[in-house]
Amino acid sequence: MRVTIDGAALEVPDGGTILEAAGLAGAWVPTLCFDERLAPFGACRVCLVGVEGAPNPLPACTTVCRDGMRIDTSDATARRVAGAVVELVLSELASPPAAHTELARVAARLQVPERPRWTGATHPVRHELEHPYLTFRHELCISCGRCVRACDELQGAFALSATGRGFEANVGAGLDTGFLESTCVSCGACADTCPTEAISEHLLLSLADGVMAVPEA
Ligand code: SF4
Ligand code: FES
Repeated sequence: MRVTIDGAALEVPDGGTILEAAGLAGAWVPTLCFDERLAPFGACRVCLVGVEGAPNPLPACTTVCRDGMRIDTSDATARRVAGAVVELVLSELASPPAAHTELARVAARLQVPERPRWTGATHPVRHELEHPYLTFRHELCISCGRCVRACDELQGAFALSATGRGFEANVGAGLDTGFLESTCVSCGACADTCPTEAISEHLLLSLADGVMAVPEA
């Protein structure tokens, strides 16, 4: 099938998503809840693109290409909404994510202001430090669901689950009883996919820094 991405015609496989087509065309589309190793989830709405004839921007990660589709990956409305979504996400964090994290890099590329225009409640600081390898800083969780899906789909461990709703949404290990009470097998898939380092491998990070210490609670 043939689609047009940012003015250039392209052959794409049947059943492929707009995000996959954009990747083939070398066009950047911002994403947050997407990880190519996992089934698309369609939760964050950061991957919006313009599609000719569609009344509103469409999520690239879950929208399947149709023959003849004309896609604008830098559609002004799509980018404005994506930037606002990321800004809102950042405004709920008690502290900004580290500059090297996926969230910070997406925010920078979307030119989201470093100080969000909106201020209000931020997620409470809560750290889980009992795991020998993994640190969970709950206040950095943006509820993208990637860790839960990585644990389920890549490892089959089913150690993590989504908790709460709306602003209270977060992730817990076991029955929100912590990693040590869960079926965690210490594979690190959750830390590897987390776009904010809410879950991180503290020992590796400490060794990289030349410091044998875990973050403070
Ligand atoms: S811990 Fe990380 S990967 Fe898991 S839902 Fe929160 S931000 Fe996403
Ligand atoms: S990356 Fe497409 S909805 Fe999150």
